[in-house]
Amino acid sequence: MLFQLVIIICIFTNAYASNKLVSLPLSITSLFQATYFYRNTTVPFSFTNCTGVNDADNSDPAENKLLKSRNASFISYSTEFKSLIDSNKTPKLIEQQPVSIPFAHEGGAYVPETNEVWFSANQLPQQNTNVSSINLTTNEVTLLNINNPINTPNGIKYFNSLVYVCSQGTKTIPAAIYAVNPTTLVSKVIVNSWFGYRLNSPNDVTFSTKISGKTFMWFTDPQVAYQQGFAGVPEYQNTVFRYDMLTSELRPVITDLITPNGIAFNQEETVLYVSDTTPTSDIAIVYAYDLTKDGLPMNRRIFSVSSYGIPDGIKVDKYDRVWTAEGDGINVRNSYGTLLGVILGYNLSSNGLISNFELKDNTVIILAQEKLWRLDLAQNVL
Ligand SMILES: *[C@@H]1O[C@H](CO)[C@@H](O)[C@H](O)[C@H]1NC(C)=O
Ligand SMILES: *[C@@H]1O[C@H](CO)[C@@H](O)[C@H](O)[C@H]1NC(C)=O
Ligand SMILES: *[C@@H]1O[C@H](CO)[C@@H](O)[C@H](O)[C@H]1NC(C)=O
Ligand SMILES: *[C@@H]1O[C@H](CO)[C@@H](O)[C@H](O)[C@H]1NC(C)=O
Ligand SMILES: *[C@@H]1O[C@H](CO)[C@@H](O)[C@H](O)[C@H]1NC(C)=O
Ligand SMILES: *[C@@H]1O[C@H](CO)[C@@H](O)[C@H](O)[C@H]1NC(C)=O
Repeated sequence: MLFQLVIIICIFTNAYASNKLVSLPLSITSLFQATYFYRNTTVPFSFTNCTGVNDADNSDPAENKLLKSRNASFISYSTEFKSLIDSNKTPKLIEQQPVSIPFAHEGGAYVPETNEVWFSANQLPQQNTNVSSINLTTNEVTLLNINNPINTPNGIKYFNSLVYVCSQGTKTIPAAIYAVNPTTLVSKVIVNSWFGYRLNSPNDVTFSTKISGKTFMWFTDPQVAYQQGFAGVPEYQNTVFRYDMLTSELRPVITDLITPNGIAFNQEETVLYVSDTTPTSDIAIVYAYDLTKDGLPMNRRIFSVSSYGIPDGIKVDKYDRVWTAEGDGINVRNSYGTLLGVILGYNLSSNGLISNFELKDNTVIILAQEKLWRLDLAQNVL
């Protein structure tokens, strides 16, 4: 009897192990066979409740798989996503702090000089200046001693030998974009004002070198730090800015988003992606724009809508797939916006929230608040 029990446990364990990637047909996103189904808005898609799924005689195979995905590491909707995932690998925990110390929140910027990925801590519950790195050779995590320290850091991007860090400011210190020398760790302010108005709280930053024959820094500047209670009253509207690296001209180029957040270009810099995220009004959209020949965003359209939570960090891989940190994990879409698969986040941190991540070769560094994970893929993606 005991022997049989052991065998049964082994079978279950193996069944679980082989369930780390669950393949779902895209049709499950638009059709349930169950007579009753119900999605509580506080849970991800996998936790949709439908009758019949536990009943072998009366169940749709797709709905059974959806149930299994509650325990999986990945949901795949495509052979393209399946070929990204190494069947022997799940996210590996690199560093863990108490839940009260969300040290791995934003950024995710690969720095070639040091073979590190830099990232910043969450400013909630406690404002801080913490920018850390993970050494990709050793997986060692280090708090960087940046001089001068950068207040309330957020999005980070490497460009031309410098690391650009969004500083959301405080009630007294103006928000800014800093550039840090990754070798000396000396920082300097690049931008902190538009005609004397303070920036709100720069959230994420990216660069273009092919648009209009110029080098531009682009950053989102939502009023998030004020809403979160650690910055002063906004002096300017929610904006996406474009900064000319040669002439220092700073121009508001998008002023009609509610909370512009993540920002990224496709490889050819012909499409700009900006996430618009307002938790209070259920706005969870990544917009795509084309660029005029003068380098202004036009033709705004909905690229994707999150099925759970808000889209935060965006990275575009070398195949122009768009990876977005959302409420259920990292959603990977092709350049047409079709969902290919999800690296599930809800078992990676206490609140399931992944704000951002970084891609380098076949590695995904996943920033999950109090935990930092490393996933090695079957394919080099960036
Ligand atoms: C939705 O789920 C939450 C917890 O996840 C629960 O508190 C709430 O009662 C649920 N609502 C409904 C209508 O089932
Ligand atoms: C899930 O479905 C079952 C069967 O219909 C129902 O009894 C239960 O209340 C549902 N739970 C939620 C959270 O909707
Ligand atoms: C998920 O995993 C947990 C713990 O390993 C297990 O107790 C539970 O039965 C599993 N649920 C499903 C639906 O496989
Ligand atoms: C993953 O998280 C979900 C939701 O919290 C939970 O139902 C499931 O059992 C977890 N799976 C594992 C293997 O911990
Ligand atoms: C920031 O770093 C300090 C010094 O190591 C540490 O005490 C604090 O918990 C960190 N905060 C976060 C949010 O990582
Ligand atoms: C990363 O680790 C390697 C191997 O120990 C070491 O040689 C290198 O200096 C480390 N990089 C940094 C930036 O500390």
